[in-house]
Amino acid sequence: MTRPLLVSPSILAADFARLGDEVRAIDEGGADWIHIDVMDGHFVPNISFGFPIIEAIRPVTKKLFDVHLMVAPVDRYLEAFARAGADLITVHAEAGPHLDRSLQTIRAMGKKAGVSLNPGTPASVLKHVLDRLDLILVMTVNPGFGGQSFIPAMLEKIAEVRDMVRGRNIDIEVDGGITRANAAEVARAGANVLVAGSAVFKAKSYAEEIRAIRTAAMSIAV
Ligand code: DX5
Ligand code: ZN
Repeated sequence: MTRPLLVSPSILAADFARLGDEVRAIDEGGADWIHIDVMDGHFVPNISFGFPIIEAIRPVTKKLFDVHLMVAPVDRYLEAFARAGADLITVHAEAGPHLDRSLQTIRAMGKKAGVSLNPGTPASVLKHVLDRLDLILVMTVNPGFGGQSFIPAMLEKIAEVRDMVRGRNIDIEVDGGITRANAAEVARAGANVLVAGSAVFKAKSYAEEIRAIRTAAMSIAV
């Protein structure tokens, strides 16, 4: 099944003093989704932002809010993220003991459900929850910070995930160190949703950078 190639810029790398304008700029610059990184200072060694920020930017764009929760325990917050404006809620497989329950909760609210895998977590942990999934996020850096280098060993995991979800309606997202230089190889391995933080927000033209990442990925997409 060929899935559309999507670019989801991470606002973690945006200028927070001008966040509304930044979201508008990536929307107008051709972003397919808006990637929103929530870090709790517990599951990951960094704190980013929470509900009020997501609510504040919700009226700025109609694009899908791709909310990546680096939060543990996460279940008690799922409803609040849905209410704040999340369309897709991705939890970490490592974040809690009841992954299947978290996914049920997300779907029961009418939202898309995703699971993220840290670099050290094998794809096989998702084998028995595939029916509950809309997206699998393969972390290509260790979560917690923007601006890190892509881990090449994740290409093999992306390909494993692709084989595991074959024939299902599940997106494969990659997140961390994605640039126009490695977009082709992650797409070749099977990713169809590319998150990019620094690459987009450090570029002079957001539109040109988003286009370059998309073009590189689509040049080999099968
Ligand atoms: C890392 C976050 C990523 C990060 C990506 O924990 O999940 O979304 O912001 O940023 P870059 O593209 O700069 O690696
Ligand atoms: Zn992320």
